[in-house]
Amino acid sequence: MQTSRAIEIGEHEIHVWWAGTNPSPSPEAAQRLHRILDAKERERSSRFFFEKDQTLYVCAHSLLRIMCTRYLGGPESAWRFETEPNGRPHIVEDGRALVDFNLSHTEGIVACGFTRSGRIGVDVESVCRKTDWKEVMKRVLSHEEQKSLIVLPPEEGRERFFEYWTVKEAIAKAWGIGVGVDFRKIEIDLGDRQPRLVRSPDGTAKPSLLHLTSLAHHRLAVAFTKMSDGTSCTPHKELVLMIRQFPESWDVVKPE
Ligand SMILES: CC(C)(COP(=O)(O)OP(=O)(O)OC[C@H]1O[C@@H](n2cnc3c(N)ncnc32)[C@H](O)[C@@H]1OP(=O)(O)O)[C@@H](O)C(=O)NCCC(=O)NCCS
Repeated sequence: MQTSRAIEIGEHEIHVWWAGTNPSPSPEAAQRLHRILDAKERERSSRFFFEKDQTLYVCAHSLLRIMCTRYLGGPESAWRFETEPNGRPHIVEDGRALVDFNLSHTEGIVACGFTRSGRIGVDVESVCRKTDWKEVMKRVLSHEEQKSLIVLPPEEGRERFFEYWTVKEAIAKAWGIGVGVDFRKIEIDLGDRQPRLVRSPDGTAKPSLLHLTSLAHHRLAVAFTKMSDGTSCTPHKELVLMIRQFPESWDVVKPE
């Protein structure tokens, strides 16, 4: 069982790990991953009707546990998580929040981000996802954002829609607001792949860092907010973002 820390995370660093889930883990690897989940996670994973959804859930939550151990030491199976009233989970040990993390999973990919000094939001979306994006955009994009999409060729418009979506989800997840927020009030300028927050709902902090990465069939967005109490903050010059793939194959992962 792994008990020692292997990775340091500096105060101004943000680390994000992602892993593909196609191909999915071999049955032996899946069993190893399943073993490190707690009873609640196992119960949740067993409720998925489709095996692919179950596998995605197991990969996401075991990635989270494995990385917690790499940063903080201790056995992967020992981590305990609590959720805020809005559903945002955090790690708790002896009443202390040790690092902030955020998890995301969607068909074909799982991702997990960590920081020591603020709140992180991570979102992954598949640009191949079957969605009537022209309809959905009316509910989640501002007028300006919608205008910027409808002038694009359909395929580009579709990809751009998922980029807005991914960035907005990452911001909402850093804030922990999730369900119930009017995404039209979070206005983004995607620029040339360098997103910027233009407008946000009242009382929400501006992210100190926003980032969007293109992977083959997915987009990965990261939002980092320095303050957790909703007050505004100045952008932090020294923030360092690291995004890495972990692992290339689930079959090489040996958590215990
Ligand atoms: C809660 C919410 C933010 C999760 O996002 P999602 O894209 O559905 O799912 P993701 O895979 O990215 O994230 C799920 C993980 O985020 C974490 N999470 C759950 N609630 C959260 C919250 N309120 N804030 C931050 N993280 C949260 C959990 O770890 C969860 O993992 P689990 O379900 O396996 O336990 C999302 O359901 C939501 O409310 N979205 C807003 C709906 C909407 O209008 N979206 C359109 C955006 S343009």
